[in-house]
Amino acid sequence: MIQTNKNLKEYNTFGISVKAEMFAVFSSIEELKQILSFRNDKKLLVLGGGSNLLLTQDFDGLVIKNEIKRFEVIEETVSKVIVESGAGENWHEFVLNCIDKGFGGVENLSLIPGSVGASPMQNIGAYGVEIKDVFESLSAYHIASGEIHYFDKTKCEFGYRESIFKNKVKGEYIILTVTFRLTKNPTINSSYGAINEQLKVMGIQVPTIKELSAAVIAIRQSKLPDPKIIGNAGSFFKNPTVDNVLLEKIQENYPDIPNYPAENGRKLAAGWLIEKAGWKGRTFDNYGVHKLQALVLVNYGNCTGQEIFDLSSQIIQDVFEKFGVLLEREVNIL
Ligand code: FAD
Ligand code: EPU
Repeated sequence: MIQTNKNLKEYNTFGISVKAEMFAVFSSIEELKQILSFRNDKKLLVLGGGSNLLLTQDFDGLVIKNEIKRFEVIEETVSKVIVESGAGENWHEFVLNCIDKGFGGVENLSLIPGSVGASPMQNIGAYGVEIKDVFESLSAYHIASGEIHYFDKTKCEFGYRESIFKNKVKGEYIILTVTFRLTKNPTINSSYGAINEQLKVMGIQVPTIKELSAAVIAIRQSKLPDPKIIGNAGSFFKNPTVDNVLLEKIQENYPDIPNYPAENGRKLAAGWLIEKAGWKGRTFDNYGVHKLQALVLVNYGNCTGQEIFDLSSQIIQDVFEKFGVLLEREVNIL
């Protein structure tokens, strides 16, 4: 059941080759409990699809991969439906399954890699929707007590790429199931500019959820590298929020800087800042900054996690020197 000295290259979308001292897969709570009994005092890493991780060194502990499967409609009315998914389900397959059944709400989140269980971790978001918009609740295994705890939306403390699981209770829980509130009379959300442009290209005026999903997939495929071909973990940094004073200072030299309303100021596009700082497309040996999306750092071959991490540090420093904006990493560093 437990493998030792396991290479994790296949288990992270950056394709970084590091070893885990112990590795096991679980598909039920019983299996999870059995595996954890071998942990002793070792470090623990819960793995979904490995698409939001940068592994910078061998992991001297226990890595457990969540493969709890399930797709179940647990409540249904004429217009609404509550769907529960096992944490180990693939996110995109879950989205396609919902679309197939005519359940709307997650179509804008098509083609995001990874597992359903990781989706609340950073409140995944794309094209005008975040999972908090459709999230109902989740169940999670509390490692210290062995109890199952339930979290509703308020308890999850969702924010932009944030939740309680990345902050106050970091490392304390293993998410087992996630429940979503979806609708049978979907309202199409095509507010994100790129979606409307793509729908026009496709000749669609009033899209169905399936067509909206197809538009999102087309946009994503046109600018994000496919991890099966080029190793990456999506956006490496978060989009930063700045105050109006700093924005106006930057606008003196860059009047066209993209900026959007945010809770405590204005949100900037990190990809734009990195591009303007001259990093877009730069390649070093077998890693670098993607040529179509400056927010994505890539592994073209067998680079190390440390090389990607050092590259991200140089970018952070350079963007700070040029714009006075401090970028924060989105990807989990291990
Ligand atoms: P992993 O990378 O395996 O884990 C991420 C973190 O969650 C780790 O800390 C891990 O320990 C923890 N974790 C995982 N599963 C559990 C669990 N069951 N219980 C407790 N902790 C757990 N993200 C977006 O928000 N929007 C995007 O548009 C987007 N686009 C992307 C595009 C590409 C090409 C790639 C490679 C990534 C993209 N991402 C995006 C990031 C990534 O897909 C998401 O963060 C995804 O939710 C990660 O899922 P995962 O299962 O791979 O998590
Ligand atoms: N831009 C540039 N140069 C670049 C990249 C982007 O100038 O190299 C500019 C674009 O022209 C546009 C703006 O930045 O004006 C925003 O670009 P885009 O719409 O591509 O989105 P993003 O801000 O780069 C965010 C998310 C993505 C998500 C998309 C779509 C973050 C950190 N990233 O990217 O999420 O898919 O919006 O909603 O919020 C992820 O989290 O891994 C991820 C891929």
